[in-house]
Order: sequence, then structure tokens, then C-alpha cells
Amino acid sequence: MFPRKSFGVRGGGVVFCIGVHSSLVSVSRTFAVRICPDRSDGYLGPMENVLITGANRGIGYALAKALVTTNFRVFAGCRDTEHAVTLEKLSASHRDLLQVLLLDVSSDESVAAAANALSGRVDVIINNAGVMPERGEEKITNIDFDHFRNAFEINVLGCARVIRSFLPHLRRSNRPRILNLSSGLGSIAERDNFNYYAYAVSKAALNMLTRSVAFELAPEGITIVAISPGWVRTDMGGDDADISAEESAEALVEAIQQIGPNLSGQFLDRFGRAGKYVW
Ligand SMILES: NC(=O)c1ccc[n+]([C@@H]2O[C@H](COP(=O)([O-])OP(=O)(O)OC[C@H]3O[C@@H](n4cnc5c(N)ncnc54)[C@H](OP(=O)(O)O)[C@@H]3O)[C@@H](O)[C@H]2O)c1
Repeated sequence: MFPRKSFGVRGGGVVFCIGVHSSLVSVSRTFAVRICPDRSDGYLGPMENVLITGANRGIGYALAKALVTTNFRVFAGCRDTEHAVTLEKLSASHRDLLQVLLLDVSSDESVAAAANALSGRVDVIINNAGVMPERGEEKITNIDFDHFRNAFEINVLGCARVIRSFLPHLRRSNRPRILNLSSGLGSIAERDNFNYYAYAVSKAALNMLTRSVAFELAPEGITIVAISPGWVRTDMGGDDADISAEESAEALVEAIQQIGPNLSGQFLDRFGRAGKYVW
């Protein structure tokens, strides 16, 4: 477990090791706990630990990059650490702040093993890993149920697995938060077409998962939200999307810092605002 009491020290520093199984994490390393730089009035608070799933590309990678430059420590989940070249480069340039973690959200064993590999506190879980399996031109007469199975396995069950396995780590935080990356396509009320059946249905289910978990964990002060990153230029969002992954991540990092129990169970936009999206 992270030495929580050490975080109260001003202007000092503590170094500790996370017990990491070498087969699960590409590089087992020592993290330096950096105490936040002083503001005019002094202490900014402890550095927070963030777990991101699917951090090797797209919004997940942009989030990892933005977070390590905004005073967060990142556990960067990735299902194929052997080929996560860009993420490994980011890790190499932020050795004390970013740890690559083998994490396939479609596998009970992988998620459980990743959670067992971390002995410390997690303040924020970002359930970012996701798939959009279809082309978007399907009709009810020709939809491929394997697309549904794939979308549910990753977009819904993947989030549930991560929450279940990392809940003990989250419970060690003074300000625990979970962000489930949802989508306007998961809004039932705003549905006005028939595109992306499996993806849209899975994100609607994710929204229900979010709302349900919010009620269960509210007594523990755990905040969980569904949050849309916007329409983002990634492999999933395509070249015509509104904003870059960096723009989306910048807004999401702000939201991470702002959200609390008053917003738990809500469907937020990337700025952390309720009201734009309806269930
Ligand atoms: N882009 C948009 O406009 C948009 C809009 C609304 C919501 N979202 C949501 O935002 C999230 C990120 O989207 P994106 O645009 O960054 O997508 P992306 O570019 O397609 O990246 C998806 C990420 O998820 C990972 N992933 C997929 N299956 C996984 C698994 N089983 N275990 C672990 N990681 C897995 C991928 O890893 P690999 O490289 O190994 O495949 C990749 O890192 C998704 O949940 C998506 O639904 C995106």
C-alpha cells in the first residue's frame, strides 16, 4: 500500500516501491512520490494515482500524457505491452510517474492479475478502453451478433471487471472517482437513427451500469460518472471528428479534478458538466 501519511509532508519527498509481478508489467520500477509544487499559499495536496485502461493510443494515450504533465501518477493499462511503443516512450520520459500495466479488460484473469500487481492506492479509474466493432451501416436484418458480444465484453463487462477488481485500491483513496467513457450514441432519448447498433446498445448499458454502481457505492463516498469525451479524431472517431485527442484529454483532466459525489450517477460532457447529455 502507498504510504498515505507521507503525502502530508510539505516540500519533501518519499520514494517507495510498488510490488509488481514482472510478467505483468513491462518495466517494474520505483516511483518517486513528488509532493506537489507550492502555490502562493503552499501545499497543493497529494499527487493522485490514476488508472487508465486502453492507454496505448487514442484518447487513453492522450489522457496518460496530459495527466503526467499535470501532477498525476498514471498506471497505463494496455492489452499488448509488447507493441505499445509510443506508450513505452512516454513511460521512459516520465519514469517516476507512468507505469505500463498489462491489462486486457476482456479477461477476468488479466484484470484480476493487474489488480493484484498493484499494492497501492488508486484515486481515479478511467474506464477508457472501448471498441466500436461495426461499420455503422447495419440493419436489424443483417446485424452481426458477434459485434454485440464483442462490444458488451469490452465496453460493458470490461468496465465492470475493472471496477470490481480495483475497488480495494479505490477504497484506499480519500477522494475516489470512476470515469466511464460513454458516448452520445449511448443516449436513448437522443437516438434518432439506426447506426452502430452494437456500440450504441453497449454504451447505453454502460450508462445503466454507471448509474447502478453510483447508488451502490454512494455510502462509501465513491463518485462514478458516465462521461463523453466529445467526438474525437482517433482510430474510432475518424478524421472528420470535431476535436483532437489532446483537446479532449485536456478537458477530461479538468473534469477529473472537479468531479465529486454531487455529480455521481450523472452523464457528463467532457468538461464535467451535467445537462448536455440525457440518458
Ligand atoms: N473517439 C470518439 O469520438 C469517441 C466518442 C465517444 C466515446 N468514445 C469512447 O472513448 C473511449 C476511447 O476511444 P478512442 O477514440 O480513443 O478509441 P480507439 O482510438 O479505438 O482506442 C481504443 C483503445 O481501447 C483499447 N482496447 C480495446 N479493447 C481492449 C481490451 N480488451 N483491453 C484493453 N484495452 C482495449 C485499445 O487497445 P488496442 O490498441 O490494443 O486495440 C485502444 O487503446 C472508448 O470507450 C470510446 O467508446 C470515443
